[in-house]
Amino acid sequence: MGKRLAVFCSGQGTNLQALVDAVEQQRCGAELALVIVDRPDAPALERAQRHQIPSLLIEPRAFASTEAYEHALTAHLTQRQIDYVALAGFMRVLSGAFVDQFRWRILNIHPALLPAFKGERAVEDALAAGIKVTGVTVHFVTAEVDAGPIILQQAVPIADNETSASLLTKLHAVEHQLYPQAIQLLIEERLVVEGNIVNILPPNNVLGSRL
Ligand code: GRF
Repeated sequence: MGKRLAVFCSGQGTNLQALVDAVEQQRCGAELALVIVDRPDAPALERAQRHQIPSLLIEPRAFASTEAYEHALTAHLTQRQIDYVALAGFMRVLSGAFVDQFRWRILNIHPALLPAFKGERAVEDALAAGIKVTGVTVHFVTAEVDAGPIILQQAVPIADNETSASLLTKLHAVEHQLYPQAIQLLIEERLVVEGNIVNILPPNNVLGSRL
């Protein structure tokens, strides 16, 4: 059976779309088994439905506590035998307790070259800082926001007169290539975490096939 991936989204879901496309074009061997959104107006939900991916709207406000909400998330992931989780514009911080249950099995994509410009305003903050190069990071999720071991990064130049809208377009184009690549490495079990470092094993690595 293929590796079953759940994608958590709060917004547009263009990265979800990129994963759908990568799977359809056989650039990524994950099985898109579940999409979870935390808000009813997230266009990602409709995208999932359009592609017949099982999807759930699980609204935090329907639960008495973060613990209860995350307990529901865990129950759905377990019930559907999910192997990995990709956060794709999921605007909630997952607790250490949740993350620890799925150690090195949750990825996130961030629109900056971490550890620079953590947080929700990464694109605006990078522009305001006047840097000439920013980029995209895919990393493992740990309890500390935007701080887990880095899997892949790609630089994106910032042009003169760049706006946050034009920069976002460039960043998205890179994200849509990088996330499926990282997920493919993950499902091939080629990512080995040692401390804060992610070592990427070569294809068909003996160790990789034993993991
Ligand atoms: C992306 O820019 C990603 O880096 C950030 O949230 C955004 C999600 O965009 N974490 P989309 O919903 O995939 O279009």
